[in-house]
Amino acid sequence: MTDSYGRKIEYLRLSVTKRCPLHCIYCKDETETNENELSASQLEKIVRAFAVCGITKVRLTGGEPLMRSDIPDIAERISKTDGIKKLVLTTNGVRLKEYAKGLQKSGVSAVNISLDTLDKEKYKALTGCDCLQNVLDGIEEAERCGISHIRINSVLIRGQNDADAENLIHLAKDRKIDVRFIELMPFSDTGENERLIIKGEEILRRFPYLKPLESQKSNIEKSVAKYYAADGFQGRIGFINPISEQFCSDCNRIRVLSDGKIRPCLGSDTEFDIRDWIDNEEKLTEAVRNAIASKPKGHSFSCGYAGFHGLDKIGG
Ligand code: 5AD
Repeated sequence: MTDSYGRKIEYLRLSVTKRCPLHCIYCKDETETNENELSASQLEKIVRAFAVCGITKVRLTGGEPLMRSDIPDIAERISKTDGIKKLVLTTNGVRLKEYAKGLQKSGVSAVNISLDTLDKEKYKALTGCDCLQNVLDGIEEAERCGISHIRINSVLIRGQNDADAENLIHLAKDRKIDVRFIELMPFSDTGENERLIIKGEEILRRFPYLKPLESQKSNIEKSVAKYYAADGFQGRIGFINPISEQFCSDCNRIRVLSDGKIRPCLGSDTEFDIRDWIDNEEKLTEAVRNAIASKPKGHSFSCGYAGFHGLDKIGG
């Protein structure tokens, strides 16, 4: 359906858990339990209501969605839901080797893998987990299983992993993998993070061989990323610039958190609790409609941390 500002809302980001085995420095430092997680059947009902309201694409997120061993079942239920044309997933890749085949069979057509460095020690320092190899194995397995679209999401932090940009870009050289740089979004109220942000334009200046692609929007889907090509590369390099660009006027997404709350906007704390309506199709659909209609016109990250909490639980 269309929201109050004329935007067609078609894309649901569904967080299935707050849990994550990693503790990335820009994300969080708490251990979460599976308390309040929705069951596969509850998630299916929620997606059905969103599909009735015009959602055609679903992304499974977390926390880390592969912390749930029933993730293939969840994926299968969602991909079979009437109206859902596309099911994708965002993962840290740590358990991807184990789940790639099951996910592909359950209808997941694309995975985004968060990976900020190819250096074992730096990975450990950034994530608190010595498991870079698991992620690399997971990426290979996803390719082998025929998951058709694989993308790496990287967040560069000044002084931490900015020197890794080149190696990350080179992942797209010999493999049909897109590598995308996401500008670091505010994650603490120390006011410190502004100097840590590496803007998309700074990366582009460092790699002048990256040439903008004619069609900036991916033709497979509406994307917030701007894509670039390098001669002889199989994959593309993308930039997601939430800090230096505003893409609210194009926003087509809505989020559901793992405890059954709808978040119409990533940049706002406004939530709609739909947990009590999950077994009442009519009320649930009405609640989804109201939440979509209430999507704010926009937000800004330039004002800092205010109103922007809990990215870790929202799944980006
Ligand atoms: N700034 C930018 N990107 C972030 N992500 C998580 N936290 C942040 C942040 N503070 C990214 C992850 C993942 C995606 C879901 O969101 O790297 O790829």
